[in-house]
Amino acid sequence: MTETRPDDIDPHAEAGTQPDLRVMLDAQRETCPVVRGADGSVALLGHADVRAAALDAELFSSAVSAHRALPNSLDGEEHRAYRRLIDAYLTAEEVEAQEPQCRAHAAAIVDALPRGATVRTVLDIGTPYAVRVQATWLGWPSEIEQELVDWVAENREASRSGDRQRLAAVAESFDAIITRLLEARRDGSIDDVTARLMRDKVDGVPLRHEEIVSILRNWTAGDLGSLAASVGVIVHHLATDTALQSYLRQLVAADRVQDFEDAIEEILRIDDPFVSNRRVTTRDTTIGGEEVAAGTRVVLNWTAANRDPQVFPEPDAFNPVHHADANLVFGIGPHICPGRALTLMELRVLVWELLAGTGEIGMSEERGPVRELPPVSGWAKVPIVLDPR
Ligand code: HEM
Repeated sequence: MTETRPDDIDPHAEAGTQPDLRVMLDAQRETCPVVRGADGSVALLGHADVRAAALDAELFSSAVSAHRALPNSLDGEEHRAYRRLIDAYLTAEEVEAQEPQCRAHAAAIVDALPRGATVRTVLDIGTPYAVRVQATWLGWPSEIEQELVDWVAENREASRSGDRQRLAAVAESFDAIITRLLEARRDGSIDDVTARLMRDKVDGVPLRHEEIVSILRNWTAGDLGSLAASVGVIVHHLATDTALQSYLRQLVAADRVQDFEDAIEEILRIDDPFVSNRRVTTRDTTIGGEEVAAGTRVVLNWTAANRDPQVFPEPDAFNPVHHADANLVFGIGPHICPGRALTLMELRVLVWELLAGTGEIGMSEERGPVRELPPVSGWAKVPIVLDPR
């Protein structure tokens, strides 16, 4: 186990001049897959350790802070009760019902993009799409979209800064947006997913206001950014790998929906923008031969685990068939992402429309792509040109 050196990462460095987080994690995992931080926390980078910790929710508790986040911070039976409620909103049928609205938003965004000129993938495609499809799913008015776009940007900056006060302010501003939406539904005049949640119960007990806010925060807050970042990662892969792009075009032509979603999940494995989640040990244990005391914060690094050569001998190779079973993009165990099917459908529909609406997607020659700064991963900027002349 080694010490991390936080000064290796300069948060003020110009984007593009920083090393790629994937490269840093690959190097670190090779020398030391269990990393002790200066604050005593332990980061797990190897696939086997991350997987084992995610599966053992008794030893690795999700109650990492005093703040109660639903369902993320819950354990055991309480967690299962809230997951039952949440899973009911994200069933295969519910996801299927959202597909037409996603297609309409995707088609409108793709139609409006210029051809032969630089398009900013994350800003012009990923972010508006993420905000529109999530807002439509939840029944939120289109006037709120710009507020959510601004919020996603501020949330990304606050997360990167690690500044607790800034993070608290961002959380508060999100709560204010949600509270307004809930107020508009108090008189029962609106019936949508948000109103349904307001009437919902866990073990026969109605959800409290702060519980509804917490659930909606987890459905939108981080996920808008993750969706937008995923669009950047996928489109970058397609624009830089013509063989992969033509493979996905063939899937569109042959209407192979499942293979298309498998391809998306595999691209996200290679470059996973949803970096990590936290746990806390409930008793003394040993990880990778190292003693870890009860009460230690543990970081499960999905991005690093998804590139572990012990499991994926060629981590950058695109091989959905061989890699699917070990893919950890949406986690594993009791906290596995309940939004996986929704996310894969949303991403499939967007990328499908983008391919169907163009003959070629290439990187812009005017500007280069820019990586996100660690500790965030994925691309901050992916300038592309549709149908370059
Ligand atoms: C690219 C997009 C997404 C990625 C990569 C992603 C990834 C993940 C991962 C890795 C976890 C496991 C967390 C853990 O073990 O602590 C998780 C949990 C979760 N995700 Fe997602 N997610 C995405 C989108 C979404 C969406 C769109 C929703 C909701 C509509 C969603 C809702 C949740 C919730 C509520 C949890 C907590 C589950 C629990 O604690 O039981 N996610 N997600």
